[in-house]
Amino acid sequence: MDFTLTEEQIMIRDAARDFARNELLPGVIERDEKQQFPHEQIKKMGELGFLGMMTAPEYGGGGMDTVSYVLAMEEISKIDASASVVMSVNNSLVCWGLETYGTEEQKQKYLVPLATGEIIGAFCLSEPEAGSDATSQKTSAVDMGDHYIVNGTKNWITNGSTASVYLVICQTHAEKGHKGINALIIEKGMDGFVVGLKENKLGIRGSDTHSLMFNNVKVPKENRIGEDGFGFSFAMKTLAGGRIGIAAQALGIASGAYELALQYSKERKAFGKEISQHQAIAFKLADMATEIEVARLLCLKAACDKDEKRNYDQSGAMAKLYAADMAMRNTVEAVQIHGGYGFVKEYHVERLMRDAKITQIYEGTSEIQKIVISRSLLK
Ligand code: CAA
Ligand code: FAD
Repeated sequence: MDFTLTEEQIMIRDAARDFARNELLPGVIERDEKQQFPHEQIKKMGELGFLGMMTAPEYGGGGMDTVSYVLAMEEISKIDASASVVMSVNNSLVCWGLETYGTEEQKQKYLVPLATGEIIGAFCLSEPEAGSDATSQKTSAVDMGDHYIVNGTKNWITNGSTASVYLVICQTHAEKGHKGINALIIEKGMDGFVVGLKENKLGIRGSDTHSLMFNNVKVPKENRIGEDGFGFSFAMKTLAGGRIGIAAQALGIASGAYELALQYSKERKAFGKEISQHQAIAFKLADMATEIEVARLLCLKAACDKDEKRNYDQSGAMAKLYAADMAMRNTVEAVQIHGGYGFVKEYHVERLMRDAKITQIYEGTSEIQKIVISRSLLK
């Protein structure tokens, strides 16, 4: 087994690291505090190719592998998890979903501007009463022949107000349960589509999370992704890859906090020596570095499975489960290593701790990852 990265993968990782340090770090505390979306920075990420990394070049993407995407997600997330969730949703849910299952017309019309970062997209599955229990979709898409009429509410939608294109999961044939669900492409500005209030969040406060309302929105049939009834399968297949991106986000949050804690422990003195020289702190660092390496290997394993066309439902869920729980543990330790300084905003680790929490919740909670993993083991 060869763990060596290719020259191209190293170049992409380093480009993401430089971008994060030079462009995302300045202002990250202020954006968090004021809940400001990183508009300028996301535009630059599009220009640098970070928003359609895995999309084929013929559709405006970078044609890169999933390993490169994981490396870039880790670097961006070390500094700004609000920017990396925009990147993750656009790359692995929206662009991947359209490229894999969209028609040629849908790809030309929507995927090309999404992959180049000219516009960004959103993935809309969750509802007020359908989060983990995702088959209980209430948003309806009534078949009117050449179009659908969509009614309902989506909750917690990342890029809710900044997106231009929304992949919306709706129920068409309620009597068929999850086999009656469709995925529709809905554009901002369609009559009856209303963006609701922005959520005031614990973490990833620079990302814009909104509810969305659909009141008799007329959606042409050509905007359906895949065959009639393919929508739930579309959502599950897309989320399987999305979970690799969020696992890499959790990994980045943890490794960002660890790097800050390591540095701080070598500078801060107590009882006549650097705190890193106290074994209690040195052992915390040893545990953190080990857990981060485990999470990195799980992320890369899932990414390799995807790149090599092996099934990645289980490896992606394992990577997300482990990396998310690990990020929560290790960001708490990073705050502890900083003592009182860790509790204030200037030192960044309190923000990373708050940001870590969401990785245990979205794209399937940690409990849901255990359902996915155990079903895969037991089938
Ligand atoms: N690929 C293809 N099909 C799949 C699949 C997969 N990975 N996983 C499940 N399915 C299919 C099943 O085969 C089944 O179809 P058939 O009956 O035809 O075989 C169908 O989906 C229903 O599956 P289950 O019977 O297993 O359904 P369930 O009700 O028990 O729920 C679940 C399964 C895994 C818990 C699912 O509901 C789930 O993933 N819930 C979590 C939802 C989630 O992750 N939401 C994230 C929203 S997006 C987001 O959060 C973005 C962001 O933050 C940035
Ligand atoms: P619930 O499903 O009500 O779960 C509550 C608790 O019960 C959890 O601990 C859960 O693990 C547990 N639980 C539920 N069922 C089981 C079970 N069978 N066994 C064991 N435990 C169980 N959704 C989108 O569609 N698109 C987005 O872009 C998006 N972005 C988000 C951004 C943010 C900031 C947030 C907070 C959420 C976002 N979500 C998005 C929604 C997210 O995916 C859901 O919040 C998540 O799937 C959990 O659903 P829920 O909040 O309804 O919790």
